[in-house]
Amino acid sequence: MIIQENIPLSAYTTFKIGGPARFFCTVKNEEELVEAVKFAHEKGITDATSSGAHLPFFVLGGGSNLLVSDDGFPGLIIKNEIRGVTTELDIESVTSESGFKFVSAGSGEIWDDIVAYTVDRGLFGIENLSAIPGTVGATPVQNIGAYGAEASHTISSVRALDTKDFDPAMPKFVELSNTECKFGYRDSIFKHEPGRYIISRVTFKLSKKGDVTMNYKDTRDYFNDKKILKPSIAEMRRAIVEIRTSKLPDWSKLGTAGSFFKNPYVSAVKFAELKAKYPTLPGFPEPDGRVKISLGWIFDKACNARGLMIGNAGTYEKQALVLVAKPGAKAVDVKAVADELITRVKEKTGIVIEPEVEWVG
Ligand code: EPU
Repeated sequence: MIIQENIPLSAYTTFKIGGPARFFCTVKNEEELVEAVKFAHEKGITDATSSGAHLPFFVLGGGSNLLVSDDGFPGLIIKNEIRGVTTELDIESVTSESGFKFVSAGSGEIWDDIVAYTVDRGLFGIENLSAIPGTVGATPVQNIGAYGAEASHTISSVRALDTKDFDPAMPKFVELSNTECKFGYRDSIFKHEPGRYIISRVTFKLSKKGDVTMNYKDTRDYFNDKKILKPSIAEMRRAIVEIRTSKLPDWSKLGTAGSFFKNPYVSAVKFAELKAKYPTLPGFPEPDGRVKISLGWIFDKACNARGLMIGNAGTYEKQALVLVAKPGAKAVDVKAVADELITRVKEKTGIVIEPEVEWVG
């Protein structure tokens, strides 16, 4: 494993933004991962400029949910390229026709390759999460979700290096169950204890039989138009790819990290108050009584911010929740747009919105 210095991070993020990493390395297996963390610890003891016990480190996957500071990152960036996929039949389901298969993937695998792999094998569960940029390791962290599916619905367990009280002689890998991951909307234990766990593998439990999830308006409309009542998994994957391509920017052409903020949850009382002001505001009641509201709609219809540009950054013209950066944009430009949106939403609705994209710097 080679440790490089002063590596520009713009090439490693889908925003195509970011200053240099003080140190940078690529890890291809768990042993190299341990070595990287060991380097950060040793550097912390010998490097007088670093604060705390170790040099800060950050694990980079596809860089598709990050905004990296223009000043870069003062620690070690660990680029995760831990690969490998295995499939096993659930022992308990071997005899039953409707059973499950476990697909276990290295955290550095490209997420959409794994979706394609499972769809090709007729396994249900993650087809609605097609065409999301990024790596497998990021899926539990932010519990990715789209078109009525969430990673947490199929994640069986997550293997990770626990860096708390790290001892290079005895690195501790843990296997966290779905419950232990404490999943919520775009939320998990990995967000609550940032930096503690470095994910090396994720195991998904996928059904051999079933129906695709069609509880989202966009997918229902798509198949109604085509007069398909019961789409196959492959048809659903194709639909999602088409819908996403038509609604979201092509990140190979325009810098973006997808939705920049989380959709807010409000009380039923607050939702009624907002509905009185904005009668067509979409809201989705949750079992706990709260209502999830569409922030893209609020940006667009209440804040008149669809297509808003500040310098070279702004909101996407077809989906205001998605922030985009034109070539030459800086992290400060994106931040200025985000701050403007935070202010407008607070003014119009009283809601304090939270970014979904992670800040690195
Ligand atoms: N809307 C507008 N104007 C806009 C944007 C949205 O009126 O500019 C309205 C839409 O018409 C719709 C509602 O707001 O009625 C919700 O929009 P959409 O269905 O596009 O979904 P979203 O809530 O904005 C979420 C995810 C996306 C995911 C889509 C589809 C979050 C933060 N975002 O967006 O995820 O693809 O649902 O399931 O939950 C991502 O996380 O990067 C991402 C793209």
